[in-house]
Amino acid sequence: MIEAVSQGKRLERATDASGYVEAHEAFRRASDQAERIADWFERHRLLDLRAGVPAVLSVGTGGGEVDVHLIEALRRKGAFVYDALEPSGDALGRFRTRCEQFGGVPGGVWMNEGRFEEFESSLRYDLIHFVHAVYSMRNLEEALGKAFRMLREGGSLALVCCTDEGVNAFLRDVLREVSLPGRTGTMPEADLIAALSTLSGGEQRFELVPSEIAVGACFQPGGRAGHLLNFLLQADSSQLSARERAAVMDALHAHSVERDGNRWISQPMLAISVRKAAPATRRVRLGVGAGASVGDLAEVACLGA
Ligand SMILES: C[S@@+](CC[C@H](N)C(=O)[O-])C[C@H]1O[C@@H](n2cnc3c(N)ncnc32)[C@H](O)[C@@H]1O
Repeated sequence: MIEAVSQGKRLERATDASGYVEAHEAFRRASDQAERIADWFERHRLLDLRAGVPAVLSVGTGGGEVDVHLIEALRRKGAFVYDALEPSGDALGRFRTRCEQFGGVPGGVWMNEGRFEEFESSLRYDLIHFVHAVYSMRNLEEALGKAFRMLREGGSLALVCCTDEGVNAFLRDVLREVSLPGRTGTMPEADLIAALSTLSGGEQRFELVPSEIAVGACFQPGGRAGHLLNFLLQADSSQLSARERAAVMDALHAHSVERDGNRWISQPMLAISVRKAAPATRRVRLGVGAGASVGDLAEVACLGA
């Protein structure tokens, strides 16, 4: 083990800490993740909401990098209410600024500052999503159960989280050589799947969504890639010793591939949708009588069945 980064200042996640904001911005520019996630929502028809004014709840919005893609797609379909929930007021402020591009949404985008555990709403949602927002839920099973209860029948819960592959495999290699407080390189996929198994009455669909990060700039001497490296390590890379930096760059090289004059590291995501069972429909054979003939079938929604 190479010497620990004793002064290893860990970047704070999703706060107004400027280090984190810059690191996240560098990641956003180098990654196709937001587009890939939005594409998954579209392909799974999670944005095809009911007629009227459907409601969406975004849990852990952050700066809204993914949300703006979803709002853009929803705007093409009609009016909707979009509740953004985020404990960091600064992140919400960045999301608000991003929303200015829309110049107004029929129904409205509403900023709610707070944690999901305490969040209450009189709305029943058509879509509730947690995009990279399950990691710090104190009780995942409780959180998913609460989200499921807040859904309308026929509504969907959407969950996106990182997997143990790609960036996290790189991180696990780094951690053999460098101490990064609080980083493990493991993802709570198993916890998430266990928590999901406690939900009843929903059809669950799983998909591995690929994404990539361009990391070539990290290898250029004197390049501007410090922020990106900070994001990958979730730590201040300027505090690495020369030996630690060499170990990090070796691992990054081993876990990335060269293509089109750049180097790319993969960051596959696990995307899960759960559709809450719609009201049961019952096929009723109509009897011979006024306006009906033998064999006519009607589907009767049995509300509350
Ligand atoms: C990794 S960021 C993801 C942000 C955004 N969804 C995205 O994919 O770009 C996780 C976000 O969840 C928020 N968060 C953490 N704990 C939360 C909780 N208990 N309730 C709601 N949001 C939470 C954090 O503040 C952070 O902004």
